[in-house]
Amino acid sequence: MSMNEQILASEEAVTEYILAQEDKDQLRFLTCGSVDDGKSTLIGRLLYDTKLIFEDQLAALERDSKKHGTVGEEIDLALLVDGLEAEREQGITIDVAYRFFATDKRKFIVADTPGHEQYTRNMATGASTADLAVLLVDARNGLMVQTRRHAFIASLLGIRHVVLAVNKIDLVDYSETRFEEIRAEFESFANGFDFETFVAIPMSARFGDNVTARSERMGWYNGPTLLEHLETVDVGEHVLEAPFRFPVQWVNRPNLDFRGYSGTIASGKVAVGDSVVVAGPGKTSKVARIIAPEGDVKTARAEEAVTITLEDEIDISRGDQLCAPEARPDVADQMAAHVIWMADDAMLPGRSYLMKIGTKTVTATVTEIKHKINVNSFEHIAAKKLDLNEIAFCNLALSQAVAFDPYEANRSTGSFILIDRMTNATVGAGMVWFALRRATNIHWQALEVDKAARAESLGQKPAVLWFTGLSGSGKSTIASIVEKKLHAEGKQTYTLDGDNIRHGLNRDLGFTDADRVENIRRVGEVARLFADAGLITLVSFISPFRSERGMARELLDEGEFFEVFVDTPIEECKKRDPKGLYKKAAAGEIKNFTGIDSPYEAPENAEIHLHNVNRDPEEVADEVIRFLKDKGIA
Ligand code: ADX
Repeated sequence: MSMNEQILASEEAVTEYILAQEDKDQLRFLTCGSVDDGKSTLIGRLLYDTKLIFEDQLAALERDSKKHGTVGEEIDLALLVDGLEAEREQGITIDVAYRFFATDKRKFIVADTPGHEQYTRNMATGASTADLAVLLVDARNGLMVQTRRHAFIASLLGIRHVVLAVNKIDLVDYSETRFEEIRAEFESFANGFDFETFVAIPMSARFGDNVTARSERMGWYNGPTLLEHLETVDVGEHVLEAPFRFPVQWVNRPNLDFRGYSGTIASGKVAVGDSVVVAGPGKTSKVARIIAPEGDVKTARAEEAVTITLEDEIDISRGDQLCAPEARPDVADQMAAHVIWMADDAMLPGRSYLMKIGTKTVTATVTEIKHKINVNSFEHIAAKKLDLNEIAFCNLALSQAVAFDPYEANRSTGSFILIDRMTNATVGAGMVWFALRRATNIHWQALEVDKAARAESLGQKPAVLWFTGLSGSGKSTIASIVEKKLHAEGKQTYTLDGDNIRHGLNRDLGFTDADRVENIRRVGEVARLFADAGLITLVSFISPFRSERGMARELLDEGEFFEVFVDTPIEECKKRDPKGLYKKAAAGEIKNFTGIDSPYEAPENAEIHLHNVNRDPEEVADEVIRFLKDKGIA
């Protein structure tokens, strides 16, 4: 067995491990500290001292210590945990790794998270399931910016129990004064953080003082060793005490006689005969059977994977939530939440993302950043976007109502992730603060005359022709000729042109990424209304981002939206420079100019791809008309 096998860096592995050790009391904790605080050494020490190191691992360790170790001839405990090759080469820890050990009192799951600044997101990943945080500081340096940051994130992520591990105490001569200084400083700044238990422990992970064994060298310290504390601290059983929540993962229907709902219980307990309600529709029934992997059971509890059948046939699908009728979750399509951003591309309000909340996936948009939080000073700052590792309090709007709880009441049903629609990567994590009810009294008004009726009386098929391309590519020129030709054939048309709309509806917007997202969101909505009015609408905006062009497309019905890529290389646009803007941009007089210091993401699957160099615009416009004739629009 290699050392790497001990690192099970996935939630599935954690779940498996839990199932295997069902009955023992367990504590999930995470360790955090800045680089060189000795975090890996500390975890190594815990693993080593709890005798979880197998003989062959030890042998490998001794070999590796000779090769990479930084502590001379002794075994380097840090190497036991810094299992990833890359880390070893660089001497830093770069990802969250889960590690396991047990004593006869408890079993432990440690999320080891890296310390350097840019890895807030890893810490967030590790902290979301932990009950306790061990914050390491180097006794020589005292509290660092990162210590504050980690304490803040731990608190934000709902961790209520904290250990301040004042490490490397040997390097300050086991000084009580130094220890007390650090402890007092931490206590005063962590005052507002709502921690239920807080213990500071002076220790030397390297020599083992006060980690698992009481130190002989600090007679002045009467508190527990780290392991004693971890074995006995009462962190409560929040997931069990919270009301029953069961997000349905899938509907299990092998034949007509059986209809079960499968998933993992998010919180609380359930027993055969209990009343349950489907959050949202509010239909109630009683639990008929609970089927666990080993067969029928009478009861089940949080974190167990089961299939539940009900006494009544009610319509339930994947993503619905069964819950306790006397304590129902919120059901809303707007919420206020803390969002931690985890992607290199900034989060922009108005951009649409996928939100995975429980087993449900919906589309979500941040409608407003209320404030960003400076994680070092905890100040609230105004912001228009959110960059990697930043945290903000935001309002979000979802494409449909979902069931959730405030994170404070339920960390499982109160958290969500945001996913990029293009790359499918997780780009953000969120903790719900409360549901917003603002829009609950606004309903869609059904109108007697609909799109089909309007289109019919106009004798045409509505469509949106979305021209995208660089400034000076010829979008507006071509759109204008196309409109003239359509008009000549008796079609009812309208052109939405970037420069024109920016004089009115969008006069409050500039050219930052955030403003461009909003620019396109608005014009997309207007295009939808115009299509609803039965018109053939031509949109001529640079619209540089794939994401927002995709969003505009989704606002329209199938077969109504046609992306027209006016493909003119930037060298040609610069040469044409009809408004002299490229010259100004080159001279630094215009900032954020598309193609110069602001990106243009070319379409990948435009319906119409127009090459527009050395061609007569009339001829290019005809290409569009031919396409529209094919589609029965022109
Ligand atoms: S978009 O990027 O948000 O879609 P839009 O099409 O509305 O842009 O506006 C682009 C027009 O604004 C350009 O044709 C140009 O005339 C003008 N403009 C002024 N400043 C800029 C800039 N920094 N970047 C691009 N276009 C600019």
